[in-house]
Amino acid sequence: MLNVFQPALGEEELAAVAEAFASNWVGYGSRAARFEAEFADHVGVPGENMIFINSATSGLFLAMELVGLGPGDEVVLPSQAFVANANAVLAAGARPVFCDVDPHTLNPSAADVERVLGPRTKAVMVLHYGGYPGEIAEIAEVCRRRGVPLVEDAACAPASAVAGRSCGSFGDLAVWSFDSRKIITTGDGGMLYVRDPALARRANRLAYHGLEDRSSFTTAARVSSRWWDLHVDEPGRRLIGNDMTAAIGSVQLRRLPGFVRRRREIAERYDELLHDVDGVRLPPPLPAGHISSYYFYWVQMAAAIRDEVAEDLLKADVYTTFRYAPLHHVPLFGSADLPGTEEASRTTLLLPLHQGLSDDDVRLVTGRLREAVESRLAARRAGATGGSRG
Ligand SMILES: Cc1ncc(COP(=O)(O)O)c(C=O)c1O
Repeated sequence: MLNVFQPALGEEELAAVAEAFASNWVGYGSRAARFEAEFADHVGVPGENMIFINSATSGLFLAMELVGLGPGDEVVLPSQAFVANANAVLAAGARPVFCDVDPHTLNPSAADVERVLGPRTKAVMVLHYGGYPGEIAEIAEVCRRRGVPLVEDAACAPASAVAGRSCGSFGDLAVWSFDSRKIITTGDGGMLYVRDPALARRANRLAYHGLEDRSSFTTAARVSSRWWDLHVDEPGRRLIGNDMTAAIGSVQLRRLPGFVRRRREIAERYDELLHDVDGVRLPPPLPAGHISSYYFYWVQMAAAIRDEVAEDLLKADVYTTFRYAPLHHVPLFGSADLPGTEEASRTTLLLPLHQGLSDDDVRLVTGRLREAVESRLAARRAGATGGSRG
């Protein structure tokens, strides 16, 4: 079975874990601090504002807390988002308000976001569908103009950028994910970026029980007496990552450019091999100056055959899927009228895309997709013709 997502871990990651293991310092320590600095450098932001956490979801929940939400407050986000995005809003006591997306890019435009902003909007949260940056610069500008904080979910976009500026650095807060299906993985893990230095210090405290001082995490040296005393001003959680996973993360981050190069090659090969399949629409071209991480490769087809094609491919050992089932279909999160999202969710299918795919795998996927689409469309046409004859 060809998977849609797959990690790429090897000897180097294993050696890095072995080194952490041998040091006997496996909790948050110097390796985690180094990984934060490396990732911040990669994104182009100060290291003090980056926190290595145990998942992007933890980061989204903390981000909503940092924004300071309460009953009656609203957070604008696309319905075409991950379940954690809406959960984080609800958990903070606010209400998600969904904006629509472009049915081809599955990203919201700045106009989509602006259309649903209201007097109760306390934050905007957007992601980068499949690693495509989308109109993030324009959305950041809308938020700046309206004085609303922007939370950027860059879970799928570790190498994405617009005009040389990394995704994740447009927002006031941002998260990345290193779970096992992401482009770089630490098993579980993520990063939280907080632009404002004072808010970043607060985020650091809230990420570890509300405690002020984490210096003892990276050194055995004690600098004050009675270091065991507690200084807690507000209740925190326990969201920080550890040195074992950070050791893996540093290696994965070094390998990221190679991963994205291979993913791009595969996406281009899909484009070449699928451009002439009748009834299949390929992902949109990237606008000038945009760089994708190529997390998803998606095709679109008539809604009537999408699920059948997915089943045919599964029987042919090619796993496909759809991200993200619309959040406004979940009664807990509320409802909305979103034609672009409806269309995208009925027509879109993600093909396998990971750095472990060979050229033969790519040919196999495209061959089987072509067969499935052609035979399902032919069956529909035959059915329609038969029906018209009565
Ligand atoms: C857009 C998006 N945000 C957040 C997450 C959550 O990431 P994590 O598993 O690290 O909590 C995911 C995971 O699939 C995601 O796709």
